[in-house]
Amino acid sequence: MAVTADDFVPDSRDLTELADAAHNCKGCDLYLDATQTVFGAGSANAALMLVGEQPGDQEDKAGAPFVGPAGRLLDKALVAAGVDRDRLYVTNAVKHFKFTLPERGKRRIHKTPSRTEVVSCRPWLMAELDAVRPDVLMLLGATAAQSLMGSTFRLTAHRGEALRLPESDELGVDPTVVVSAHPSSVLRGRPEDRDKAFEALVSDLRFAAGLLD
Ligand code: URA
Ligand code: SF4
Repeated sequence: MAVTADDFVPDSRDLTELADAAHNCKGCDLYLDATQTVFGAGSANAALMLVGEQPGDQEDKAGAPFVGPAGRLLDKALVAAGVDRDRLYVTNAVKHFKFTLPERGKRRIHKTPSRTEVVSCRPWLMAELDAVRPDVLMLLGATAAQSLMGSTFRLTAHRGEALRLPESDELGVDPTVVVSAHPSSVLRGRPEDRDKAFEALVSDLRFAAGLLD
């Protein structure tokens, strides 16, 4: 069996113990070039858990998820949707920043994690899910959606739907799952499309929050 995060995940479901253990993970090669593991953050009792793709440049340096440009956009969308970030748990499908360095001294460029890396890192995400046990799980972008819903899952076909994890019976957790675009995709979109993309994200966040009531 290939090495995955499974070899590093402790039995504990205490988030601090999990985060400490994740800092020593060598479940795939991404730990080699990244600064540090960026584990999830937020309330252990959160009713709503958000999952992004992987830390970006700023998250890699800060050691916290969604603190860079995508995080600021997410914060704005949460405010617009009336969701308090303090009541969330926020994490990523992959815990190390994957990037290319075009030239020495140049800015590091985000690279999408491979299916193998996503699968290798999945045990951390499952442990977080088991620790937090949210009522609603919101998957932001195709990487997070395919990590938990399967590699053929098509995000765009399922926005605005209340879904279930395919393996919810074996997993022992059964949150209502909702999917949305990744906040970075809003930033990357054409300027004339940005407002619409932002409003769609806000609307998905409202839908997720509405499922909690
Ligand atoms: N993009 C993500 O998917 N996660 C982060 O934490 C930051 C940017
Ligand atoms: Fe471990 Fe995930 Fe980092 Fe790979 S990306 S080393 S599996 S924490």
